[in-house]
Amino acid sequence: MDPFDRAYAAIQEHGICARSSKSELWSLYKLTKLACKYEFPLIIELGTFAGASSIIMAQALKHCNRGGKILSVDNGSEIDLDVTKANLEKSGFSSRIDLIESGDNEYLISCIPDTIDLIYIDSRHTYNHVSETLEIVTQKVRAGGIIAGHDYCPVEPGVVRAVEEWKFRCKDYLVGWALDESFWWTMKRWW
Ligand SMILES: C[S@@+](CC[C@H](N)C(=O)[O-])C[C@H]1O[C@@H](n2cnc3c(N)ncnc32)[C@H](O)[C@@H]1O
Repeated sequence: MDPFDRAYAAIQEHGICARSSKSELWSLYKLTKLACKYEFPLIIELGTFAGASSIIMAQALKHCNRGGKILSVDNGSEIDLDVTKANLEKSGFSSRIDLIESGDNEYLISCIPDTIDLIYIDSRHTYNHVSETLEIVTQKVRAGGIIAGHDYCPVEPGVVRAVEEWKFRCKDYLVGWALDESFWWTMKRWW
């Protein structure tokens, strides 16, 4: 079994609820590998929920033989974070994932340096919130780093509007690509 299938099977076996489809998690897995250019990549997730997407990113980090951790931020508004912690333990990846119990934008502003290799945005899907997140992270991603997000689709018009307006304003990033059902990503220019 290849490493992605192994991690996905573990998620299912432990009954860990995922809010993303298998093909979206596969896209996230590939992007994480693409972002692992350095020995200790800085990888952030906004919106851990039950831990499925963190586990997939941690598997990619392991497969690239990189150090470092996934810093995954959740304020517990939609899930009991003790359940998330238990899921991460069961998955065998808890040593590679730091669950940060905090509001995402507050945490980004106060604790994250300007060297993000990959940030996966999947927390609060309102226009104002996603716009604020994108404003904060624009300068915090290193050249060649990646911003990705979930729920870019008609049922979340706030996400679509925030991403489109940001892309129009922000010339530092290559054109965003939509992959799978509702997964988007873009890479910061390095020239
Ligand atoms: C869509 S779920 C994340 C799904 C997860 N990435 C996955 O693929 O399984 C959104 C999560 O974001 C959290 N959340 C919502 N607003 C937040 C905020 N302002 N700061 C941090 N976490 C937030 C919720 O508690 C919820 O667990």
